[in-house]
Amino acid sequence: MKAMSIEKYGKNVPLLMSERPLPGIGDHDVLVEIHAASLNPIDFKIKEGKVKLLLKYKFPLILGNDFSGVVVQVGKLVQAFKPGDEVYGRPRKSRIGTLAEYIAVHEEDISLKPHNLNFAEAASIPLVGLTTYQAFTEILDLQQGHKILIHAGAGGVGTFAIQLAKWMGAYVATTASEKGYELVKGLGADQIINYKKENFAEILSEYDAVYDTLGGTALVQSFRILKPGGRIVSISGVPNAAFGKEAQLNWWKTALLSIISRKITALEKENQVRYRYLFMKPSGAQLTIIKDYIEAGHIKPVIDKVFTLRDADQALRYLEEGGAKGKVVIKVR
Ligand SMILES: NC(=O)c1ccc[n+]([C@@H]2O[C@H](COP(=O)([O-])OP(=O)(O)OC[C@H]3O[C@@H](n4cnc5c(N)ncnc54)[C@H](OP(=O)(O)O)[C@@H]3O)[C@@H](O)[C@H]2O)c1
Repeated sequence: MKAMSIEKYGKNVPLLMSERPLPGIGDHDVLVEIHAASLNPIDFKIKEGKVKLLLKYKFPLILGNDFSGVVVQVGKLVQAFKPGDEVYGRPRKSRIGTLAEYIAVHEEDISLKPHNLNFAEAASIPLVGLTTYQAFTEILDLQQGHKILIHAGAGGVGTFAIQLAKWMGAYVATTASEKGYELVKGLGADQIINYKKENFAEILSEYDAVYDTLGGTALVQSFRILKPGGRIVSISGVPNAAFGKEAQLNWWKTALLSIISRKITALEKENQVRYRYLFMKPSGAQLTIIKDYIEAGHIKPVIDKVFTLRDADQALRYLEEGGAKGKVVIKVR
């Protein structure tokens, strides 16, 4: 099969097309003929070796964390899927590689794809959808009437997050530049802050929740806008010791996280709010819930640009430039 892979980590290491053996399947796996994939910042972070502490890979490494396609073979013990099923998913972290013609995935990591989406649209959903669903339901406990700030509303995560928060009945403020204004307004954002001209921390107050997709100064300033008891979840900021324990990292990695997150821990206490770092988990069951939201019309995919598999290297560089409005998709078939 054709696949886009790297031979070593590095920013300037090319993502090259090569011929690779068809993946074998275990008893609980399905083999999927991939029709489309989508890119996420984690792809260039993996390529550059920035997540080596958390994720260990061997070379050659096929990149890609999101896909949609058709089941062509199932393992002996698979009950939920059969050849011909149209599915979408985010494979578990040890088994990435969706920039390829086929992938073997555990049956628990996939769901039937929303029937009202084509393959390109379906491939844009899993990683951003799962991350946001987990952030809102497992950490922020987002409720009807809550006020939430979603950072970078025009990005891949933000465009999904605005729609899910609105569907859950929250009041949504978001940060975006002029270029993203119409998009986030159309998705339902109640208040839009032009981050190039205004400081959200001087405008918003008494918020229940912050969904931080940026880290750095935006994360630090976000503590100021919460009411006591409010919650922040970051997917880009500093992992803390609580995350280390949850992810079952060894003692020295957890101790290291405790040291690098000291400032955040102090802000938590000072503002009487709760901070959690989230590293999303694959889940076919949650993708089925998301599929139902999409089929009911509550959430729509937002696609910025579509590239071919051969042009995945160029697509990854485009994503890394940072201006995408919604998702960057790779058409495989
Ligand atoms: N921990 C996890 O499990 C997890 C999961 C998913 C994503 N993430 C992380 O979350 C981050 C966001 O991912 P993504 O897919 O949404 O990225 P993305 O699609 O590349 O985000 C691009 C968008 O960010 C906007 N933006 C950039 N700087 C901004 C700022 N200071 N304020 C407001 N908006 C800003 C840009 O708007 P303009 O062009 O208008 O400036 C652009 O529309 C990445 O770091 C990613 O690695 C983590």
